Amino acid sequence: MHEPLNGIVLAGGTGSRLYPLTKVTNKHLLPVGRYPMIYHPLMRLREAGITRVAVVTSPEHMGDVVNLLGSGRELGLDLTYRVQDQPGGIAQALGLCENFAGGKPFLVVLGDNILEDSLMEEAEIFRQQQRGARILLKAVQDPERYGVPRFEGEEIVEIIEKPASPPSRYAVTGLYFYDAQVFDFIRTLSPSRRGEYEVSDLNSAYVKHSTLTYGVLDGWWGDAGTLAGWHHANELARDLIYPVLPAEA
Ligand code: G1P
Repeated sequence: MHEPLNGIVLAGGTGSRLYPLTKVTNKHLLPVGRYPMIYHPLMRLREAGITRVAVVTSPEHMGDVVNLLGSGRELGLDLTYRVQDQPGGIAQALGLCENFAGGKPFLVVLGDNILEDSLMEEAEIFRQQQRGARILLKAVQDPERYGVPRFEGEEIVEIIEKPASPPSRYAVTGLYFYDAQVFDFIRTLSPSRRGEYEVSDLNSAYVKHSTLTYGVLDGWWGDAGTLAGWHHANELARDLIYPVLPAEA
């Protein structure tokens, strides 16, 4: 039996696109279907056998997030928390988890991503890949809202964050498998025009090293980070129920 992957859920940021819903509440605690938003990534990790998980959030919301999730025991998880002092982007938040990762590969899920598919198969594919990174794509109507891959044939040659003229119809979803080299790549990044350390730059670093692979999600997927996206995620996840764990003896 091989060692299970670790997981990281990124739940920082200001949630400005959902203001004033996010004036006093962290975006990731807003309801999506029957659950607080952050349950969705956590339950997908658990389902894939990934139970050792770090949650990164802002100082303002750490108290609420811990009140909700605690040690993770009731959810079948073993949770660790990291504070992102300033909202500096996804890659910066990830950089806080280097000690947690302990040199081993892991799966990152953005706290506002809601998906239909199980991640079990993809986690197995990445375990066999052993090094590099693997991202998951989904064809969407509005790729300009996301990180978008540019292809030459079947191969990804670049990933561009929110391109005005998208080079393909795929969004890079907020589900990323990385090996520990990601932390070296993070140290080489500079902030983008919006002042953030971009996950797309990180993925492009793997492209340059020819160690990025990708899969395409079959089922529905949503990013609940905008008002339209949040409403859509609520429709998609309306009837979603995750199995309750048996009470401990
Ligand atoms: C972030 C990433 C983007 C990715 C998206 C997926 O965008 O920057 O590359 O496609 O998540 O949800 P954000 O939603 O923070 O604008």
